Formats: sequence, structure tokens, C-alpha cells
Amino acid sequence: MSEGFSAEWLALREPADHAARDPGLAAAASAAVGERRVQRVVDLGCGAGSNLRGFAPKLGPRQHWTLVDFDPRLLEAARAALTRWADRARAEGDALFLEQGGRRIEVAFRQVDLAADPAGPLAGEVDLVTAAALFDLVSQDWLARFSDALAARRLPLYTVLIYDGIERWAPPHPADAAALAAFHAHQAGDKGFGPALRPQAAPPSRRR
Ligand SMILES: C[S@@+](CC[C@H](N)C(=O)[O-])C[C@H]1O[C@@H](n2cnc3c(N)ncnc32)[C@H](O)[C@@H]1O
Repeated sequence: MSEGFSAEWLALREPADHAARDPGLAAAASAAVGERRVQRVVDLGCGAGSNLRGFAPKLGPRQHWTLVDFDPRLLEAARAALTRWADRARAEGDALFLEQGGRRIEVAFRQVDLAADPAGPLAGEVDLVTAAALFDLVSQDWLARFSDALAARRLPLYTVLIYDGIERWAPPHPADAAALAAFHAHQAGDKGFGPALRPQAAPPSRRR
């Protein structure tokens, strides 16, 4: 079972995560959704909602996001962080209605253990599946089952932030080696999906 991710740590890395994104890939993902009255996105392993904050500005004026995570603390953190991020926010039952930068974004929160149920969140009306910093935590077997479910539903996937094993530290610091070793040890921990792919999740051309 996962040792859990801290909302504080996710908040600390969010600006760097957003800055690291490939604008071309985001534009392609946005184009894949196409023009719809409401664009429906499912974000897997949503944490505190960083992926919505990073990608919603690239989508159209009306969006519906389903945020999926198995950690109820992080789903609550996502609700709070999105409420702070939006120009206006209104809760209605379990849903959150946001206005941000001229966009209207409805957000649903679902507590799901993706390890047990990779296909469940893909059911229903979905235009795009997203995930940030998730696929290096999953196992080969899980990824195969998830990919089959995605292909069966012919859904586009936009995923970012997979560690490909390439690391550069700037400026150098004596603690770099210890920090890297701790990072690798954390990545190797079982997150509930079986043996984690770690850098093997990235395309071979990008791997070290
Ligand atoms: C590295 S964090 C990334 C969070 C967020 N996407 C971001 O970019 O800030 C991985 C996320 O996957 C979630 N997660 C891990 N195992 C899961 C599982 N079995 N089912 C659902 N979510 C899971 C964690 O709770 C955590 O929120």
C-alpha cells in the first residue's frame, strides 16, 4: 500500500512542475479534445489538483473535470486549493463550480483505488484522460490493463511528469547524491500497483 503523498510537498513542487511542461504537447492534447460545449476530463491520481490548475487554461470556456485519487486527504486538499485558485468558487453537494480566467469549470471528486480498478474511471462521458506524475509509480501489468481499457474506449491520454532517469543538479550541492538516493528509494516503494516502473515508464528514446 502507498505510504501516501503530502499535500505540502505537492504544493511545493507545483510551480516547477507547471514550468517543466511541454507547450506543444499541451496544445496537441487540447486539440485532441476538440470543440465541445462542455469538455470532459478525467484526471487520474489528481493529488491536490495541480494538473487541473496547469492544464485547464489550455482548454475551452466550459469544462467538467473528474478528479480521481484514493487518498481522501488529498481530495480534500484539492477542493481547498481549487477554491483558493479560482476567481469564484461555489460548492453544491459534492461538486465544486469554479470560474477562473473566464472559464466555467465543474469539478467532481471520486475516491477510487486505481490499482484495483484501472478502467472504472474511464466509464461514462469522457473526452480526455489526464495524469501527472503517476505512470512511473505503476507496474507494467497495470499499465497494460489500463492501456487496453483506454484503447477499447478510444480515449486520448495526456500525461506529464514521468521521471526518465535523467537528472541534473544546478547549482551543485554536497547533498545532491543523498537526495538522489532518497528519491530513488521513494520511487521504488510499492504504491499499491505492484513493482513500480520508475524510469521504465518513459519511452525508450528518453530513458537513460
Ligand atoms: C506523485 S503524486 C501526483 C499528484 C498530482 N497528479 C500532481 O501532479 O501533483 C501521485 C498521486 O497518485 C495517487 N495514487 C497513488 N496510488 C493510487 C491508487 N492506487 N489509486 C488512486 N490514486 C493513487 C496519490 O495519492 C497521489 O495523489
